[in-house]
Amino acid sequence: MSVRETTTGAILVTGATGNVGRQVVSQLRHAGTVVRAMTRNPGSAKLPENVEVVRGDLSDAGTLDAALDAVESMFLVWPFNTAEAAPAVLDVVKRHARRVVYLSSMSVRDDVEEQADPISAFHAEIERLIEESGLEWTFLRCSGLATNTLGWAEQIRADGIVRWTYGEATRSLIHERDVAAVAVHALTEVGHSGRKYILTGPEALTQVEQVYAIGEAIDRPLRWEEISPEVARKQMIAGGWTPSFADGALDYWAKLVAEREPVTHAVEQITGSPARTFRQWAIDHASDFS
Ligand SMILES: NC(=O)c1ccc[n+]([C@@H]2O[C@H](COP(=O)([O-])OP(=O)(O)OC[C@H]3O[C@@H](n4cnc5c(N)ncnc54)[C@H](OP(=O)(O)O)[C@@H]3O)[C@@H](O)[C@H]2O)c1
Repeated sequence: MSVRETTTGAILVTGATGNVGRQVVSQLRHAGTVVRAMTRNPGSAKLPENVEVVRGDLSDAGTLDAALDAVESMFLVWPFNTAEAAPAVLDVVKRHARRVVYLSSMSVRDDVEEQADPISAFHAEIERLIEESGLEWTFLRCSGLATNTLGWAEQIRADGIVRWTYGEATRSLIHERDVAAVAVHALTEVGHSGRKYILTGPEALTQVEQVYAIGEAIDRPLRWEEISPEVARKQMIAGGWTPSFADGALDYWAKLVAEREPVTHAVEQITGSPARTFRQWAIDHASDFS
């Protein structure tokens, strides 16, 4: 990757042990950038040896000064279900950094007073707070991460049957490497400030087609077995979802049966490479399903 480097200070990556942040860290290193990775538990973070790892907790703004020391740009992943802690975090960030690249969601709408569901609502609120902070910002409004389908891995390993709801919901899932590649451009080049990028995969597949693609990647025939939204809702809540988050997701999947999720070409426009397909993602993650 060739990026025009404009960053003089370090780049702090939050969520550095997560799906997207881990990729941002390794791609920034590959681009030759000074990168600092933040985690609550440096001892178990398993980050590359040549990366500076710092302890920090977004729920405790007092832990962030040290992590942000001499940092110019920050990749922000928000791990909570509300924006409650964000004002205190941004107060610290703006004392140190100049620029924030925020991992947001494609479901955020600019043309409504009230967002449709609680996930969109907290992302919209954090975007608003960042815009008002005086920091330079870029929002990466992503479609569903392909890593969401890792939630099927246990069923696939057990008997090859995915029992879930809205099999015909059609989504343009995105590879975490593509989100990270865009983040690297936004963190290291000029020209991305004030931009809201809608990032998606290159095609929209039904959930049933996603399961077949995983089957091809692991060379095992897999099956979809439709369950009702009510049963799925019970499972989601038993798995830790709040009722309002579960309802928001179920309503969204129901909508995607009638209306395919949009596909954009922003990944290719920004990085110069087409977004990876879900089939490629499944090949990259075959070992997670085997
Ligand atoms: N899934 C989707 O389809 C989708 C779509 C669009 C946007 N998003 C957004 O993407 C974000 C999740 O990204 P991801 O999947 O890459 O993350 P992830 O794999 O779920 O990892 C969560 C990260 O958050 C960190 N974290 C958790 N609690 C923390 C705290 N109190 N302080 C600091 N860091 C904390 C964890 O780090 P440590 O445990 O090491 O501290 C970990 O690196 C969410 O904001 C989500 O809304 C997701």
